[in-house]
Amino acid sequence: MSELQPILISGGVGFIGSNFVQHWFSKGFGPVVNLDKLTYAGNPENLASIEGDPAYTFAHGDICDAKLVAQLMKQHHPRAVVHFAAESHVDRSIAGPEAFLRTNIDGTFTLLQAAREYYATLTGSERESFRFLHVSTDEVYGTLNPDDPAFHEETPYSPNSPYAASKAASDHLVRAWVHTYGLPAIITNCSNNYGPYQFPEKLIPLMIANALQGKPLPIYGDGQQVRDWLFVLDHCRALQTVLERGRVGETYNVGGGNQRSNLEVVTTLCALLDELVPESKFKPHFQLVKYVTDRPGHDRRYAIDARKLETELGWRAEESFETGLRKTVEWYLANSAWVQNVTSGAYQQWVAQNYDSRAVSENPASRTTAKEAL
Ligand code: NAD
Ligand code: DAU
Repeated sequence: MSELQPILISGGVGFIGSNFVQHWFSKGFGPVVNLDKLTYAGNPENLASIEGDPAYTFAHGDICDAKLVAQLMKQHHPRAVVHFAAESHVDRSIAGPEAFLRTNIDGTFTLLQAAREYYATLTGSERESFRFLHVSTDEVYGTLNPDDPAFHEETPYSPNSPYAASKAASDHLVRAWVHTYGLPAIITNCSNNYGPYQFPEKLIPLMIANALQGKPLPIYGDGQQVRDWLFVLDHCRALQTVLERGRVGETYNVGGGNQRSNLEVVTTLCALLDELVPESKFKPHFQLVKYVTDRPGHDRRYAIDARKLETELGWRAEESFETGLRKTVEWYLANSAWVQNVTSGAYQQWVAQNYDSRAVSENPASRTTAKEAL
């Protein structure tokens, strides 16, 4: 398919999606149509740098809206779908799982059905090269003991949180659409991402934002839970690689081999802040650490074996945890206005004033570019 045809991405205003869109444009890979509901996690400011680019189209709407999704595919004739949209935060899934089931399961089903119908209209090289890339998580595999080998593509699914269960369900749907309907889909399961534009409810940006304001740094339980951290741009490069060269029907695990306990992560972050903000009155920042009640059902350890992606497709993480974390802290320090807009909720007032979600989902023709709205 021609690179002049767009890719259709879902959830591209969120953390990973907005990094992916910026990466895509920085490489000149062609037009993008971005379907996003602008939930609390979708801050249009994330994509301010590409607003006005004629190759970018923003469609405000819900992936559960079958009419809208079908209309977008028909109208834009995408060469691929990259599916990021999800409710993504484990703690929120424990407090209120409904939205997770709706968006992550029903929404994926809706996108798959629309993609299947659209794919049936393609012929020749367009049909040959069309891909549906489903962006998923290592949490579908459950939890590891300290001596267990890392998750690999054959590890049985064993999701523990409502979030993980909803993502596991979506993965199974994608797999079924490949096997039953021949949809050319690929699944990626990635470990914990960190980097610019991550919403400060997740561990790393929350700790940075709180430390800078002298607020407590809440560590769940004993802080010995292990996550395998990957800088978000390395994830974006992996997705692009899989889109280009991944085999249809396959799953690829994505991870950077950076296992760290939460306590280690927070200790490193505090040391970085001590160094980069020497005038801070909250130094040493580690004094702000507060042990709090553990997350219910908290998975103890995640670790990813990414050898399939590395050997088969030649991808390698470019950032170490140390270089990536330093870049991340520097980004948050340089973008305090972004953090302020998010933590104060100002961006949501702006979204409410500029978008009428009812009108958009009922009338797909009323697409608005984020530029117009900004
Ligand atoms: P995020 O929460 O930052 O962003 C989600 C985006 O999806 C937001 O822009 C939101 O507005 C949009 N969205 C939510 N519901 C929608 C709906 N019904 N219709 C249309 N848009 C909707 O999430 P993220 O951290 O960028 O994660 C993106 C994807 O990557 C998710 O599928 C997640 O499961 C997966 N993932 C995330 C991580 C991580 O560490 N963050 C790791 C592995 C996989
Ligand atoms: O593994 C991939 C997953 O990583 C993604 O699929 C999810 O979308 C993403 O949110 C992330 O899930 P986690 O639950 O691992 O991320 P979170 O940042 O919420 O927490 C990381 C670890 O830090 C986890 O062990 C819980 C702990 N934690 C988190 C917060 C927010 C704390 O100790 N204190 C906190 O305040």
